[in-house]
Amino acid sequence: MTLRTGIVGGTGYAGGELARLLLNHPAVASITPTARGGEEFDRVHPNLLGCGLSFVAVDELRRRAGDLDVVFFCTPSGEAMRSASFFLDHGVKVIDVSADFRFRDPQRYAEVYGAPHAAPQLLDEAVYGVTELHREHIARARLVANPGCYAITTVLGLAPLLRSGLVDLDLPLHLAAVNGTTGAGNKPVTEVMHAEAFASMLPYSLEGHRHAPELETHLAPLAGREPCVDMTTAHGNFARGIYIQASLSVRPEKRAGTDRAALLDLYERYYADEFFVRVNTAPKKAGLNAKEYGVYPSLTAVTGSNFCHIGVDYDAARGFVKVIAVTDNLVKGAAGSAIQNMNVMAGLDERTGLHHYGL
Ligand SMILES: NC(=O)c1ccc[n+]([C@@H]2O[C@H](COP(=O)([O-])OP(=O)(O)OC[C@H]3O[C@@H](n4cnc5c(N)ncnc54)[C@H](OP(=O)(O)O)[C@@H]3O)[C@@H](O)[C@H]2O)c1
Repeated sequence: MTLRTGIVGGTGYAGGELARLLLNHPAVASITPTARGGEEFDRVHPNLLGCGLSFVAVDELRRRAGDLDVVFFCTPSGEAMRSASFFLDHGVKVIDVSADFRFRDPQRYAEVYGAPHAAPQLLDEAVYGVTELHREHIARARLVANPGCYAITTVLGLAPLLRSGLVDLDLPLHLAAVNGTTGAGNKPVTEVMHAEAFASMLPYSLEGHRHAPELETHLAPLAGREPCVDMTTAHGNFARGIYIQASLSVRPEKRAGTDRAALLDLYERYYADEFFVRVNTAPKKAGLNAKEYGVYPSLTAVTGSNFCHIGVDYDAARGFVKVIAVTDNLVKGAAGSAIQNMNVMAGLDERTGLHHYGL
């Protein structure tokens, strides 16, 4: 056991999930989570009752910087950019689960998040942390920008297709994206209370979700140019999970050779060596438009795990590829992929501490 870890924002959903996963990580020697109030750890995270962790103030974590190897920021956007330099200067690697280092261009950050970037000098070195795509850069990084939960699920869901050149990029990539209510954070909001949300859907940010420009930026190297991402987001009536339903137009000259089998083959080959990305290749047995639910991914199948499940189909009459990609927003969408990145940065097998399957 060698890795000494800190979690800034230890009272939140992402911070709590990091603590849960790090407690089961065989190479982690210590976990120091922060809280701004005087909370008791077990009261805030009762699922970890008796785990022995306790909160410290952020200033105390800073004082202990010399005893840390890696610090995770699980804070609202704006905090990591103010503190990352301090930890980096003390030789501590930084993995930011918030959005502070996801754009290389500080102007783009300011446009999307409505505030100037406080550490533009760090943006060039920050590596965008989709492990499956960037592990060589992550291995050498001091600072990793963990992707947004919608973003990582979409990037994994669309990477093979965009790389293949099949998609007509003159048209928008349409995404219907649903997140569990933990995606809203743990601060009380009336509309997200159980009584309001339990049998409903809660659309939000339809004027342009912040993950759309993040996706446009990070899908560009896969697509060969920046695509237009048309994203419609909602919270579903479940606590955990990201469900992405994408609809992409195939270039007219490529439609003749496209069908579900060819798409599944493309995805299987692309992810053949990836542990955490699984393609649902179940064959269709019934006729056209039969309700064969098992041929697409199930959201609940990935809950609690670091897996991303992907399914594809093709609407031949209209030339649209449909992609379904699902993850757990708190695991592959946040804490799990952050640990996967930590493993790569530490030279460990990236699956360490993350092998478990969904609930
Ligand atoms: N939830 C998700 O599904 C998800 C997925 C991917 C990424 N993320 C990102 O992860 C970050 C945390 O999200 P969350 O859902 O865990 O939010 P959350 O439940 O609201 O937790 C936020 C945490 O940040 C702490 N905090 C707030 N301001 C702080 C400051 N100035 N200094 C130190 N700590 C501060 C809070 O501590 P106090 O208790 O002291 O207020 C709390 O521990 C966000 O940037 C979010 O976008 C979330």
